[in-house]
Amino acid sequence: MAALHESADTVNSELDAGRLFDLSGRVAVITGATRGLGLAMARAFARAGAQVVVVSRKADVCAEVAAALRAEGGKAAACACHVGRWDDLATLVEDVYGEFARVDVLVNNAGLSPVYGKLSEVTEELFDKVIDVNLKGPFRLSALVGERMVADGAGSIINVSSTGAVRPTRDIVPYAAAKAGVNAMTVGLAHALGPKVRVNAIMPGPFLTSIARGWDMDTFAERARTFPLRRAGQAEEIAGAALYLASDASSYTTGTILTVDGGAQWSMAGTGDAGPQLS
Ligand SMILES: NC(=O)c1ccc[n+]([C@@H]2O[C@H](COP(=O)([O-])OP(=O)(O)OC[C@H]3O[C@@H](n4cnc5c(N)ncnc54)[C@H](OP(=O)(O)O)[C@@H]3O)[C@@H](O)[C@H]2O)c1
Repeated sequence: MAALHESADTVNSELDAGRLFDLSGRVAVITGATRGLGLAMARAFARAGAQVVVVSRKADVCAEVAAALRAEGGKAAACACHVGRWDDLATLVEDVYGEFARVDVLVNNAGLSPVYGKLSEVTEELFDKVIDVNLKGPFRLSALVGERMVADGAGSIINVSSTGAVRPTRDIVPYAAAKAGVNAMTVGLAHALGPKVRVNAIMPGPFLTSIARGWDMDTFAERARTFPLRRAGQAEEIAGAALYLASDASSYTTGTILTVDGGAQWSMAGTGDAGPQLS
């Protein structure tokens, strides 16, 4: 049995801060990587040396983004897939393993939060779409890739949740429920796929991506004054958390929900007449 207390000379003195975050030789599949947070993670991973696989619904846009990453000196390939479609995910996995023979990092980032009016105006179609893309797809992809990672002896899965999961507001009820499911799923998958494979989530607060185009910016500015950091995030500010969870820097971290929100979750209103809410 290992000693509970290690003396100074048993602590590895070879740690190299740069190499901790190095992804050279690793294959990283990122869904929703053509814009916003996914693109920021794809760029960061490519710069850290990973072979990135850019996934979204649109083949031409995936190809453009992969080409742009290669033009910046990275290694990137494109693979179109609708992550809300169960059977299409098996095809994605076969294509990626056929091309690269392994996946070291999977980021379940693709997600959406459609606008609705009254709760009773939420259609079954809208509800199912929100669950399919935000929760069902990430489960299926994690199952397919995670079991192969276990067989290969290692891997890191990162799910992208939302502070809406823990601070749900009236305008994002199905989305908040799906993202709360993502948080629970992350912990369950960490148990199921450990000890070889680590599974964590990033829980973003408000970021200025295309999602923010639907926000009332005056209302947002008023709300942001109550955030500890007083502002929304820029997409590239997700990169540090993603690099940490993807790389060996997080070798003893699994089942964690890492919040990246400028502290916004501590000031978000949940109910009342505060006007449009933000996810
Ligand atoms: N931005 C925020 O404030 C915020 C806050 C909390 C959580 N999040 C979460 O962070 C993640 C990324 O958000 P974002 O703001 O970067 O979003 P975004 O800018 O709208 O980008 C979404 C990405 O997902 C892809 N996508 C959408 N539906 C897809 C599907 N069915 N299959 C495959 N790809 C699909 C999009 O490409 P195509 O449309 O071409 O397929 C795009 O690449 C999401 O899970 C979101 O819920 C964002």
